[in-house]
Amino acid sequence: MKGRVEVIVGAQWGDEGKGRVVDAMANTMDVVVRFQGGANAGHTVIVEGEKYIFHLLPSGMLYSGKTCVIGNGVVIDPQQLLEELGDLQERGKDRARLVISGAAHVVMPYHKVLDGMEERLRGFGKKIGTTRRGIGPCYMDKVNRCGIRVEDLLCEDALREKLSFNLEVKNMYLTRIYGEAPMAFGEIFDQARTWGEKLGPYVGDASLTVFEALVKGSNVLFEGAQGTLLDLDHGTYPFVTSSSPVAGGACVGAGLGPSLVGRVTGVVKAYCTRVGEGPFPTEHKGDLGDALRERGCEFGATTGRPRRCGWLDLVALKYAVRVNGIHALALTKLDVLSGFESIPVCVSYRSDEGEDLPFRGNSPFLDSVEPVFRNMDGWKRDLGEYRSFDDLPLAAREYIRFIEEWTGVPVVLVGVGPGRDQTIVRGL
Ligand code: IMP
Repeated sequence: MKGRVEVIVGAQWGDEGKGRVVDAMANTMDVVVRFQGGANAGHTVIVEGEKYIFHLLPSGMLYSGKTCVIGNGVVIDPQQLLEELGDLQERGKDRARLVISGAAHVVMPYHKVLDGMEERLRGFGKKIGTTRRGIGPCYMDKVNRCGIRVEDLLCEDALREKLSFNLEVKNMYLTRIYGEAPMAFGEIFDQARTWGEKLGPYVGDASLTVFEALVKGSNVLFEGAQGTLLDLDHGTYPFVTSSSPVAGGACVGAGLGPSLVGRVTGVVKAYCTRVGEGPFPTEHKGDLGDALRERGCEFGATTGRPRRCGWLDLVALKYAVRVNGIHALALTKLDVLSGFESIPVCVSYRSDEGEDLPFRGNSPFLDSVEPVFRNMDGWKRDLGEYRSFDDLPLAAREYIRFIEEWTGVPVVLVGVGPGRDQTIVRGL
Protein backbone atom coordinates (compact mmCIF):
# COMPACT_ATOMS: atom_id res chain seq x y z
CA MET A 1 0.00 0.00 0.00
CA LYS A 2 1.45 3.38 -0.93
CA GLY A 3 -0.30 5.50 1.71
CA ARG A 4 0.10 5.14 5.44
CA VAL A 5 -2.44 4.81 8.24
CA GLU A 6 -2.13 6.62 11.56
CA VAL A 7 -4.57 5.90 14.37
CA ILE A 8 -5.07 8.35 17.22
CA VAL A 9 -6.76 7.11 20.37
CA GLY A 10 -7.53 8.52 23.78
CA ALA A 11 -5.48 6.70 26.44
CA GLN A 12 -7.65 7.76 29.41
CA TRP A 13 -11.36 8.55 29.89
CA GLY A 14 -11.71 10.86 26.90
CA ASP A 15 -11.12 14.63 26.76
CA GLU A 16 -7.38 14.09 26.42
CA GLY A 17 -7.08 16.75 23.72
CA LYS A 18 -7.17 14.45 20.70
CA GLY A 19 -8.49 17.23 18.49
CA ARG A 20 -5.33 19.29 18.83
CA VAL A 21 -3.12 16.25 18.12
CA VAL A 22 -5.13 15.47 15.01
CA ASP A 23 -4.77 19.11 14.10
CA ALA A 24 -0.99 18.96 14.52
CA MET A 25 -0.77 15.90 12.27
CA ALA A 26 -3.34 17.00 9.73
CA ASN A 27 -0.96 18.76 7.36
CA THR A 28 0.69 15.45 6.43
CA MET A 29 -2.63 13.62 6.16
CA ASP A 30 -5.06 13.56 3.26
CA VAL A 31 -8.00 11.73 4.78
CA VAL A 32 -9.35 12.03 8.34
CA VAL A 33 -11.74 9.34 9.56
CA ARG A 34 -14.04 9.04 12.56
CA PHE A 35 -14.78 5.41 13.34
CA GLN A 36 -16.89 5.19 16.52
CA GLY A 37 -19.01 7.07 19.00
CA GLY A 38 -21.37 9.87 18.14
CA ALA A 39 -22.33 13.32 19.30
CA ASN A 40 -21.29 12.33 22.84
CA ALA A 41 -17.81 13.40 21.76
CA GLY A 42 -16.69 17.00 21.74
CA HIS A 43 -13.46 17.85 19.98
CA THR A 44 -12.25 21.37 20.53
CA VAL A 45 -9.82 22.90 18.05
CA ILE A 46 -8.61 26.49 18.19
CA VAL A 47 -7.54 27.79 14.78
CA GLU A 48 -6.46 31.39 14.11
CA GLY A 49 -7.90 32.37 17.50
CA GLU A 50 -11.30 30.91 16.61
CA LYS A 51 -12.73 28.04 18.57
CA TYR A 52 -14.47 25.11 16.90
CA ILE A 53 -16.23 22.31 18.76
CA PHE A 54 -17.06 19.27 16.66
CA HIS A 55 -19.27 16.55 18.03
CA LEU A 56 -19.59 14.51 14.87
CA LEU A 57 -17.47 16.01 12.13
CA PRO A 58 -13.86 14.85 11.92
CA SER A 59 -11.44 17.61 12.99
CA GLY A 60 -9.91 17.60 9.50
CA MET A 61 -12.96 19.52 8.22
CA LEU A 62 -11.08 22.78 8.75
CA TYR A 63 -8.60 22.01 5.96
CA SER A 64 -9.12 22.57 2.28
CA GLY A 65 -8.29 19.65 0.06
CA LYS A 66 -8.84 16.99 2.72
CA THR A 67 -11.37 14.21 2.63
CA CYS A 68 -13.20 13.57 5.89
CA VAL A 69 -14.94 10.29 6.45
CA ILE A 70 -17.57 9.25 8.99
CA GLY A 71 -17.30 5.47 9.17
CA ASN A 72 -19.90 2.77 9.71
CA GLY A 73 -18.96 2.51 13.40
CA VAL A 74 -20.24 6.01 14.19
CA VAL A 75 -23.80 6.67 15.32
CA ILE A 76 -25.04 9.83 13.66
CA ASP A 77 -27.44 12.39 15.03
CA PRO A 78 -28.38 14.01 11.70
CA GLN A 79 -29.68 17.20 13.29
CA GLN A 80 -26.38 17.74 15.09
CA LEU A 81 -24.36 16.90 11.99
CA LEU A 82 -26.34 19.32 9.83
CA GLU A 83 -25.88 22.06 12.43
CA GLU A 84 -22.11 21.54 12.45
CA LEU A 85 -21.99 21.60 8.65
CA GLY A 86 -24.17 24.72 8.61
CA ASP A 87 -21.90 26.46 11.12
CA LEU A 88 -18.81 25.72 9.03
CA GLN A 89 -20.55 27.01 5.92
CA GLU A 90 -21.49 30.24 7.70
CA ARG A 91 -17.92 30.75 8.85
CA GLY A 92 -16.60 29.99 5.36
CA LYS A 93 -14.67 26.95 6.62
CA ASP A 94 -16.44 24.11 4.77
CA ARG A 95 -13.35 23.38 2.77
CA ALA A 96 -13.09 19.60 2.95
CA ARG A 97 -14.94 16.82 1.15
CA LEU A 98 -17.18 14.78 3.45
CA VAL A 99 -18.09 11.12 2.95
CA ILE A 100 -20.61 9.51 5.32
CA SER A 101 -20.94 5.74 5.43
CA GLY A 102 -24.40 4.55 4.43
CA ALA A 103 -23.95 1.80 7.02
CA ALA A 104 -23.56 4.19 9.96
CA HIS A 105 -26.56 4.04 12.29
CA VAL A 106 -28.84 6.98 12.92
CA VAL A 107 -29.58 8.29 16.40
CA MET A 108 -33.33 8.77 16.32
CA PRO A 109 -35.29 11.09 18.65
CA TYR A 110 -36.55 8.11 20.68
CA HIS A 111 -32.97 7.01 21.39
CA LYS A 112 -32.29 10.27 23.19
CA VAL A 113 -35.51 10.02 25.20
CA LEU A 114 -34.75 6.41 26.15
CA ASP A 115 -31.19 7.33 27.15
CA GLY A 116 -32.63 9.70 29.75
CA MET A 117 -35.29 7.21 30.87
CA GLU A 118 -32.80 4.40 31.35
CA GLU A 119 -30.59 6.63 33.45
CA ARG A 120 -33.60 7.57 35.56
CA LEU A 121 -34.46 3.90 36.02
CA ARG A 122 -30.93 3.00 37.10
CA GLY A 123 -31.33 5.43 39.95
CA PHE A 124 -28.91 6.80 42.48
CA GLY A 125 -25.55 5.04 42.68
CA LYS A 126 -26.10 3.05 39.48
CA LYS A 127 -26.32 5.88 36.96
CA ILE A 128 -23.65 5.85 34.25
CA GLY A 129 -23.86 9.60 33.85
CA THR A 130 -24.34 9.36 30.07
CA THR A 131 -24.31 12.40 27.84
CA ARG A 132 -27.98 11.65 27.03
CA ARG A 133 -27.20 11.83 23.33
CA GLY A 134 -28.94 8.52 22.67
CA ILE A 135 -25.67 6.67 22.15
CA GLY A 136 -26.37 3.49 24.16
CA PRO A 137 -29.93 2.98 22.86
CA CYS A 138 -28.80 3.53 19.26
CA TYR A 139 -26.00 0.95 19.54
CA MET A 140 -28.50 -1.39 21.22
CA ASP A 141 -30.66 -1.29 18.10
CA LYS A 142 -27.61 -1.83 15.91
CA VAL A 143 -26.61 -4.94 17.85
CA ASN A 144 -30.23 -6.06 17.92
CA ARG A 145 -30.27 -5.74 14.09
CA CYS A 146 -33.25 -3.42 13.96
CA GLY A 147 -31.46 -0.06 13.74
CA ILE A 148 -32.00 2.56 11.07
CA ARG A 149 -28.91 3.23 8.98
CA VAL A 150 -28.01 6.37 7.05
CA GLU A 151 -28.76 4.57 3.78
CA ASP A 152 -32.32 3.94 5.02
CA LEU A 153 -32.88 7.70 5.20
CA LEU A 154 -32.47 7.75 1.42
CA CYS A 155 -35.11 5.13 0.75
CA GLU A 156 -38.64 6.07 1.73
CA ASP A 157 -40.02 2.53 1.78
CA ALA A 158 -37.23 1.11 3.91
CA LEU A 159 -37.47 4.07 6.26
CA ARG A 160 -41.24 3.71 6.64
CA GLU A 161 -41.00 0.00 7.38
CA LYS A 162 -38.11 0.21 9.83
CA LEU A 163 -39.41 3.28 11.60
CA SER A 164 -42.91 1.77 12.05
CA PHE A 165 -41.45 -1.35 13.62
CA ASN A 166 -39.05 0.52 15.86
CA LEU A 167 -41.53 3.09 16.98
CA GLU A 168 -44.10 0.45 17.87
CA VAL A 169 -41.58 -1.24 20.18
CA LYS A 170 -40.17 2.01 21.58
CA ASN A 171 -43.64 3.32 22.32
CA MET A 172 -44.34 0.19 24.34
CA TYR A 173 -41.25 0.94 26.43
CA LEU A 174 -42.16 4.59 26.75
CA THR A 175 -45.76 4.04 27.78
CA ARG A 176 -45.70 0.73 29.65
CA ILE A 177 -42.36 0.88 31.41
CA TYR A 178 -41.60 4.55 31.76
CA GLY A 179 -45.16 5.89 31.91
CA GLU A 180 -44.42 8.49 29.24
CA ALA A 181 -46.45 9.65 26.23
CA PRO A 182 -45.90 7.75 22.96
CA MET A 183 -44.03 9.42 20.11
CA ALA A 184 -45.82 10.16 16.82
CA PHE A 185 -44.74 8.44 13.61
CA GLY A 186 -45.56 11.27 11.19
CA GLU A 187 -43.33 13.90 12.70
CA ILE A 188 -40.30 11.62 13.03
CA PHE A 189 -40.80 10.21 9.52
CA ASP A 190 -40.95 13.67 7.94
CA GLN A 191 -37.91 14.80 9.88
CA ALA A 192 -35.97 11.69 8.87
CA ARG A 193 -36.84 12.17 5.18
CA THR A 194 -35.58 15.76 5.35
CA TRP A 195 -32.35 14.51 6.93
CA GLY A 196 -32.02 12.02 4.08
CA GLU A 197 -32.46 14.75 1.46
CA LYS A 198 -29.86 16.96 3.11
CA LEU A 199 -27.30 14.27 3.88
CA GLY A 200 -27.82 12.33 0.63
CA PRO A 201 -25.04 14.12 -1.30
CA TYR A 202 -22.47 13.09 1.33
CA VAL A 203 -23.42 9.41 1.59
CA GLY A 204 -20.93 6.98 0.12
CA ASP A 205 -18.80 3.90 0.70
CA ALA A 206 -16.49 4.93 3.51
CA SER A 207 -14.39 1.76 3.48
CA LEU A 208 -13.79 2.00 -0.26
CA THR A 209 -12.97 5.71 0.00
CA VAL A 210 -10.26 4.94 2.57
CA PHE A 211 -8.91 1.97 0.63
CA GLU A 212 -8.71 3.80 -2.68
CA ALA A 213 -7.00 6.73 -0.99
CA LEU A 214 -4.34 4.40 0.43
CA VAL A 215 -3.81 2.71 -2.93
CA LYS A 216 -3.26 6.14 -4.50
CA GLY A 217 -0.63 6.97 -1.86
CA SER A 218 -2.72 9.24 0.34
CA ASN A 219 -2.18 9.19 4.10
CA VAL A 220 -5.15 8.40 6.32
CA LEU A 221 -5.65 9.45 9.91
CA PHE A 222 -8.16 7.71 12.15
CA GLU A 223 -9.45 9.98 14.86
CA GLY A 224 -10.73 8.18 17.95
CA ALA A 225 -13.42 9.67 20.16
CA GLN A 226 -13.79 9.11 23.94
CA GLY A 227 -10.95 6.99 25.35
CA THR A 228 -9.63 3.53 26.13
CA LEU A 229 -11.02 3.47 29.66
CA LEU A 230 -14.51 4.17 28.28
CA ASP A 231 -14.29 1.29 25.79
CA LEU A 232 -17.30 -1.02 25.95
CA ASP A 233 -15.13 -4.13 26.34
CA HIS A 234 -11.87 -2.83 27.77
CA GLY A 235 -12.98 0.16 29.83
CA THR A 236 -14.23 0.47 33.40
CA TYR A 237 -17.37 -1.57 32.71
CA PRO A 238 -20.25 -0.88 33.24
CA PHE A 239 -19.25 2.80 33.44
CA VAL A 240 -18.31 2.98 29.78
CA THR A 241 -19.66 4.19 26.48
CA SER A 242 -21.25 1.79 23.99
CA SER A 243 -18.59 1.80 21.26
CA SER A 244 -14.96 0.70 20.83
CA PRO A 245 -12.63 3.70 21.17
CA VAL A 246 -9.56 1.41 21.19
CA ALA A 247 -7.35 1.22 18.11
CA GLY A 248 -8.92 -2.06 16.99
CA GLY A 249 -12.21 -0.17 16.69
CA ALA A 250 -10.73 1.77 13.78
CA CYS A 251 -10.66 -1.38 11.66
CA VAL A 252 -14.20 -2.49 12.47
CA GLY A 253 -15.62 1.02 12.46
CA ALA A 254 -14.36 1.95 9.02
CA GLY A 255 -13.89 -1.32 7.17
CA LEU A 256 -10.10 -1.39 7.27
CA GLY A 257 -7.95 -4.52 7.55
CA PRO A 258 -5.69 -4.57 10.67
CA SER A 259 -2.57 -5.23 8.58
CA LEU A 260 -2.97 -1.76 7.06
CA VAL A 261 -2.61 0.12 10.35
CA GLY A 262 0.77 1.82 10.63
CA ARG A 263 1.30 3.80 13.79
CA VAL A 264 -0.99 4.07 16.81
CA THR A 265 -0.59 7.26 18.84
CA GLY A 266 -2.14 7.45 22.28
CA VAL A 267 -3.16 10.85 23.56
CA VAL A 268 -2.69 11.28 27.29
CA LYS A 269 -3.32 14.32 29.43
CA ALA A 270 -0.57 15.19 31.93
CA TYR A 271 -3.14 14.47 34.66
CA CYS A 272 -6.47 12.59 34.59
CA THR A 273 -10.08 13.62 34.19
CA ARG A 274 -13.33 11.80 33.94
CA VAL A 275 -16.91 12.93 33.26
CA GLY A 276 -19.82 10.91 34.50
CA GLU A 277 -19.82 8.13 37.05
CA GLY A 278 -17.45 5.23 37.60
CA PRO A 279 -14.14 4.34 39.21
CA PHE A 280 -11.25 6.79 39.10
CA PRO A 281 -8.44 5.57 41.39
CA THR A 282 -6.32 8.75 41.25
CA GLU A 283 -9.19 11.24 41.63
CA HIS A 284 -8.49 14.16 43.96
CA LYS A 285 -11.73 15.36 45.50
CA GLY A 286 -10.17 18.24 47.42
CA ASP A 287 -8.63 21.59 46.60
CA LEU A 288 -5.91 20.15 44.34
CA GLY A 289 -8.53 18.52 42.15
CA ASP A 290 -10.39 21.85 42.07
CA ALA A 291 -7.15 23.60 41.10
CA LEU A 292 -6.64 21.19 38.19
CA ARG A 293 -10.22 21.79 37.04
CA GLU A 294 -9.86 25.56 37.16
CA ARG A 295 -6.44 25.73 35.55
CA GLY A 296 -7.25 23.13 32.92
CA CYS A 297 -10.76 24.51 32.20
CA GLU A 298 -12.05 21.01 32.77
CA PHE A 299 -15.70 21.36 31.86
CA GLY A 300 -17.33 19.02 29.32
CA ALA A 301 -17.41 20.25 25.72
CA THR A 302 -20.67 18.35 25.14
CA THR A 303 -22.57 18.70 28.40
CA GLY A 304 -20.71 21.51 30.21
CA ARG A 305 -20.43 19.24 33.27
CA PRO A 306 -17.44 19.86 35.56
CA ARG A 307 -14.94 17.06 35.01
CA ARG A 308 -13.63 15.04 37.92
CA CYS A 309 -9.89 15.62 38.19
CA GLY A 310 -6.92 13.72 39.57
CA TRP A 311 -3.32 12.71 39.00
CA LEU A 312 -1.72 10.85 36.14
CA ASP A 313 -2.29 7.11 36.45
CA LEU A 314 0.60 5.18 34.95
CA VAL A 315 -0.96 1.80 35.78
CA ALA A 316 -3.95 2.67 33.61
CA LEU A 317 -1.70 4.21 30.96
CA LYS A 318 0.38 1.04 30.70
CA TYR A 319 -2.85 -0.85 30.18
CA ALA A 320 -3.90 1.56 27.44
CA VAL A 321 -0.53 1.09 25.76
CA ARG A 322 -1.11 -2.66 25.78
CA VAL A 323 -4.72 -2.88 24.59
CA ASN A 324 -4.19 -0.34 21.81
CA GLY A 325 -0.69 -1.39 20.78
CA ILE A 326 0.40 2.24 21.22
CA HIS A 327 3.66 3.14 19.44
CA ALA A 328 3.87 6.77 20.54
CA LEU A 329 2.32 9.08 23.11
CA ALA A 330 1.13 12.65 22.73
CA LEU A 331 1.16 14.37 26.13
CA THR A 332 -1.29 17.25 26.39
CA LYS A 333 -1.85 20.09 28.86
CA LEU A 334 1.53 19.82 30.56
CA ASP A 335 1.29 23.59 31.18
CA VAL A 336 -1.64 23.02 33.56
CA LEU A 337 0.76 21.39 36.05
CA SER A 338 2.99 24.49 36.32
CA GLY A 339 3.07 25.91 39.83
CA PHE A 340 2.40 22.71 41.77
CA GLU A 341 5.08 22.21 44.44
CA SER A 342 5.17 18.49 43.74
CA ILE A 343 3.17 16.30 41.37
CA PRO A 344 1.94 12.88 42.47
CA VAL A 345 1.90 10.16 39.81
CA CYS A 346 0.29 6.78 40.41
CA VAL A 347 2.79 3.98 39.84
CA SER A 348 0.97 0.99 41.26
CA TYR A 349 -2.34 -0.37 42.52
CA ARG A 350 -2.04 -2.10 45.85
CA SER A 351 -4.44 -4.78 47.06
CA ASP A 352 -5.52 -5.21 50.71
CA GLU A 353 -2.88 -7.92 50.96
CA GLY A 354 -0.18 -5.49 49.85
CA GLU A 355 0.17 -7.00 46.38
CA ASP A 356 0.85 -4.79 43.29
CA LEU A 357 -1.82 -5.44 40.70
CA PRO A 358 -2.15 -4.56 37.02
CA PHE A 359 -5.12 -2.56 35.71
CA ARG A 360 -8.33 -4.45 35.01
CA GLY A 361 -11.37 -2.97 33.33
CA ASN A 362 -13.65 -3.94 36.17
CA SER A 363 -15.42 -1.40 38.29
CA PRO A 364 -15.52 -3.15 41.73
CA PHE A 365 -11.85 -4.12 41.34
CA LEU A 366 -10.84 -0.53 40.65
CA ASP A 367 -12.88 0.73 43.59
CA SER A 368 -11.02 -1.69 45.87
CA VAL A 369 -7.41 -0.90 44.98
CA GLU A 370 -5.18 1.58 46.78
CA PRO A 371 -3.24 3.81 44.36
CA VAL A 372 0.43 4.21 45.26
CA PHE A 373 1.90 7.57 44.28
CA ARG A 374 5.42 8.75 43.49
CA ASN A 375 5.90 12.48 44.06
CA MET A 376 7.63 14.18 41.17
CA ASP A 377 9.20 17.63 41.51
CA GLY A 378 7.05 20.46 40.23
CA TRP A 379 8.17 23.51 38.23
CA LYS A 380 7.14 27.12 38.58
CA ARG A 381 7.42 28.55 35.09
CA ASP A 382 4.54 28.94 32.69
CA LEU A 383 5.29 26.60 29.76
CA GLY A 384 3.26 28.47 27.15
CA GLU A 385 6.27 29.97 25.37
CA TYR A 386 8.39 26.81 25.15
CA ARG A 387 8.83 25.19 21.74
CA SER A 388 11.67 22.76 22.35
CA PHE A 389 11.93 19.81 24.71
CA ASP A 390 15.52 20.63 25.67
CA ASP A 391 14.56 24.13 26.86
CA LEU A 392 11.79 22.94 29.20
CA PRO A 393 12.43 23.24 32.96
CA LEU A 394 14.33 20.20 34.24
CA ALA A 395 11.41 18.95 36.34
CA ALA A 396 9.06 19.06 33.33
CA ARG A 397 11.57 17.08 31.26
CA GLU A 398 11.87 14.56 34.07
CA TYR A 399 8.12 14.24 34.24
CA ILE A 400 8.05 13.38 30.53
CA ARG A 401 10.99 11.00 30.79
CA PHE A 402 9.35 9.24 33.71
CA ILE A 403 6.26 8.57 31.59
CA GLU A 404 8.43 7.25 28.78
CA GLU A 405 10.42 4.96 31.05
CA TRP A 406 7.35 3.66 32.78
CA THR A 407 5.39 2.89 29.62
CA GLY A 408 8.31 2.09 27.30
CA VAL A 409 6.79 4.42 24.70
CA PRO A 410 8.24 7.71 23.41
CA VAL A 411 6.40 10.99 23.94
CA VAL A 412 6.39 12.55 20.47
CA LEU A 413 4.28 15.62 21.14
CA VAL A 414 3.83 17.84 24.19
CA GLY A 415 1.03 20.38 24.50
CA VAL A 416 2.06 23.49 26.45
CA GLY A 417 -1.00 25.70 25.94
CA PRO A 418 -4.37 25.87 24.19
CA GLY A 419 -3.15 27.56 21.00
CA ARG A 420 -2.42 25.62 17.85
CA ASP A 421 1.26 26.62 17.95
CA GLN A 422 1.74 25.84 21.65
CA THR A 423 3.05 22.39 20.84
CA ILE A 424 6.47 20.81 21.17
CA VAL A 425 6.99 18.21 18.48
CA ARG A 426 9.61 15.52 19.04
CA GLY A 427 9.19 13.22 16.07
CA LEU A 428 5.59 13.12 14.96
P1 IMP B 1 -22.56 7.89 26.65
O1 IMP B 1 -21.44 7.69 25.71
O2 IMP B 1 -23.30 9.18 26.45
O3 IMP B 1 -23.47 6.70 26.71
O4 IMP B 1 -21.94 8.03 28.14
C1 IMP B 1 -21.27 6.94 28.78
C2 IMP B 1 -20.10 7.46 29.59
O5 IMP B 1 -19.09 7.94 28.72
C3 IMP B 1 -20.43 8.63 30.51
O6 IMP B 1 -19.64 8.52 31.67
C4 IMP B 1 -20.00 9.85 29.71
O7 IMP B 1 -19.69 10.95 30.54
C5 IMP B 1 -18.77 9.29 29.03
N1 IMP B 1 -18.44 9.97 27.76
C6 IMP B 1 -19.06 9.84 26.58
N2 IMP B 1 -18.47 10.58 25.65
C7 IMP B 1 -17.44 11.21 26.24
C8 IMP B 1 -16.44 12.10 25.78
O8 IMP B 1 -16.35 12.46 24.60
N3 IMP B 1 -15.54 12.52 26.71
C9 IMP B 1 -15.58 12.09 27.99
N4 IMP B 1 -16.49 11.26 28.46
C10 IMP B 1 -17.41 10.81 27.60
